[in-house]
Amino acid sequence: MRLAFITDVHFGRLTPGAAGALLADLREQKPDLILIGGDVTQRGFAKQYRECQQFLAALPAPWLSVIGNHDVPAWNLLERFIAPYHAYQKFITRDLNPVWVGDRVAIQGLNSARRMMRDWAWEQGKISDWQIDLAVKFFAQHPDKTKILMTHHPVAHPPQKETKMLVHNHEHALNMFAAAGVDIILTGHLHLASVRDIQADVPSRRKPLWMVMGGTATCDRLRGEPNSYWMIETNVGPSFALRTFNGEQFI
Ligand SMILES: [Fe+2]
Ligand SMILES: [Fe+2]
Repeated sequence: MRLAFITDVHFGRLTPGAAGALLADLREQKPDLILIGGDVTQRGFAKQYRECQQFLAALPAPWLSVIGNHDVPAWNLLERFIAPYHAYQKFITRDLNPVWVGDRVAIQGLNSARRMMRDWAWEQGKISDWQIDLAVKFFAQHPDKTKILMTHHPVAHPPQKETKMLVHNHEHALNMFAAAGVDIILTGHLHLASVRDIQADVPSRRKPLWMVMGGTATCDRLRGEPNSYWMIETNVGPSFALRTFNGEQFI
């Protein structure tokens, strides 16, 4: 199965030409399914969500999306605290912890964005115990399939640098996901692209556990890397190919 993993699209803060270039490349790559890792907007404004809706409608394959911290309204504090996920659910999708099941692949998405974390650290994320249980039960129903977990905030450090942005509850989450037989964990948030086998981070693990971080697909807040997304082939390997581009030019 061919999966495209795009994340941190950030409508409202786009690299000029990047969204069109991404759509054109996705049409050429012909993924069976497109996974979207959160931060679809820059500030959670309705205008930005509407632009994202147009983008989603133009995608050349079915898609599955999780919410990111930027999708929780940052300026409307009443909405942030009373209904933090309302706009995302209205414009993108109602299901905050969505699943997708194919013949050989089972995918669980988890919402890691929160209205508030300790010390006013809004950008930080969390995976709650009940969400870990949800994922473990889901994967138990699909013992023979490639198991993929997608959440916005990182569960382990990327190879580029240690980060303070690891999702809260990450140690427990990682141990439980590994024990549940998860093969691939997809995350975003850092705008840094990498793929790493993190089985050594989980003492009980005896086979590869791939952590795939997406760079920002289309945002101009780059961290020294070009815009990019991942193409993942699950039938062989799995294998991972990074598609990088600079404005309208694929490189
Ligand atoms: Fe982001
Ligand atoms: Fe983020």
